[in-house]
Amino acid sequence: MVTRSENDALTRVEGDAPMGQMLRENYWLPFARSESLAPGAAPQRVRLLGCDLVAFRGQDGTLGLVDERCPHRMASLALGRVEGCSLRCIYHGWRIGADGAVVEVPSEGERSAEFAARVKVNRYQIREGGGLVWAFMGTGDSPELPPLPFMAVPAEGRSWWRMTVDCNWLQGFEGALDSVHLNWLHQGWSDPGKPQPFPKLAPSYDIEQTAYGLRTAAIRQLAPGKLHFRVAEFVAPFFAFSASRQPMIATDCSCFISVPIDDEKHILLFGVWDETGPVQSMGSFFDGLDPDDLLAGDFHRGNNWGQDREAMAGGHFSGFTRSVLHEDLGVQMSMGPIVAREEEQLCGTDLAIVRMRQFLLEMLKSQQAGEQIDGAFAEYAAGGFLPFSYEAEAGADWRLGGQRGKLGRVVEAVI
Ligand code: FES
Ligand SMILES: [Fe+2]
Repeated sequence: MVTRSENDALTRVEGDAPMGQMLRENYWLPFARSESLAPGAAPQRVRLLGCDLVAFRGQDGTLGLVDERCPHRMASLALGRVEGCSLRCIYHGWRIGADGAVVEVPSEGERSAEFAARVKVNRYQIREGGGLVWAFMGTGDSPELPPLPFMAVPAEGRSWWRMTVDCNWLQGFEGALDSVHLNWLHQGWSDPGKPQPFPKLAPSYDIEQTAYGLRTAAIRQLAPGKLHFRVAEFVAPFFAFSASRQPMIATDCSCFISVPIDDEKHILLFGVWDETGPVQSMGSFFDGLDPDDLLAGDFHRGNNWGQDREAMAGGHFSGFTRSVLHEDLGVQMSMGPIVAREEEQLCGTDLAIVRMRQFLLEMLKSQQAGEQIDGAFAEYAAGGFLPFSYEAEAGADWRLGGQRGKLGRVVEAVI
């Protein structure tokens, strides 16, 4: 059971909130697909940890990330013009370089360079990796980008979708560690020509704590002597590698990254990757949807997030027919902006979520005790663990199944 104050500690990220501080000072925050920031394209508004920023890419490909408010009289730099590798405010023409230095203050005439050198701009580090753009907002030195498994995959071997979700980041994140909902919420998206990937059997959980987070196995008894393992990795603070068999990749490698925009919104980056070859078409999964704004359109409480009761009458279980992620995110938003976790009544199959919350609370304690937070990404990388969903004989050890080259028999078409 999480108390109200623990819930606040876990969820709130704005201002001096400890979780916001921990994320700001220790982690790179991915916030966009690389392709969404083309050279010379319109600057992109970015809100992270309650701070309003603007990202832009100069004509030479250099990325810049600064406060949205112009340092002169606070006009939005999201309205600015990208000129060369700098951003010019359209109000009075001040020009800011990708490195965050003001390079021109036209109204100061001959004094422009001298005056510009004294102007302070709040700028942040920005980098690309794994097909994503990442921000570091801390005051100290930044760590390396995390060596996560998708980072080294060639561009054609991975795909990302980004969406803005109207609820707290933890609420979204918990969905990735919740194996039970697959066979309920998502059953309308299983291939109707095939039997359910596994029957609606309540899994038992086995969880191993690591330095980087948790390895969680949902274990189902398919038949006498036959087990099904679904292994998901929680990599602190907000990465979930979830076994999620999709039609367009030959592996189960999918990743959910839930990055806080502020207390009541988050960015979800959903990615799939295949180390052995290109990602195939997403088929009907995300047809016609914007990869940078997957939930664009009429998706809100007022219309029950587009739930289609006619489709339900016709046999679709949940009525969310646009994509499997609309199904997840509609339900998560329906829980309200920040779930009152002190009111929940959890059951046995919520164990992975409970353990993940405990892990994060321990990290917060360390942070507040002034200890160095080590993301332990290197340990995750060294383990070679990938998410997998597979069948095994009774007595098999699920811990071996998630490692490269040690697969059990992969189950087909598991969503
Ligand atoms: S407000 Fe931006 S240049 Fe004046
Ligand atoms: Fe889901």
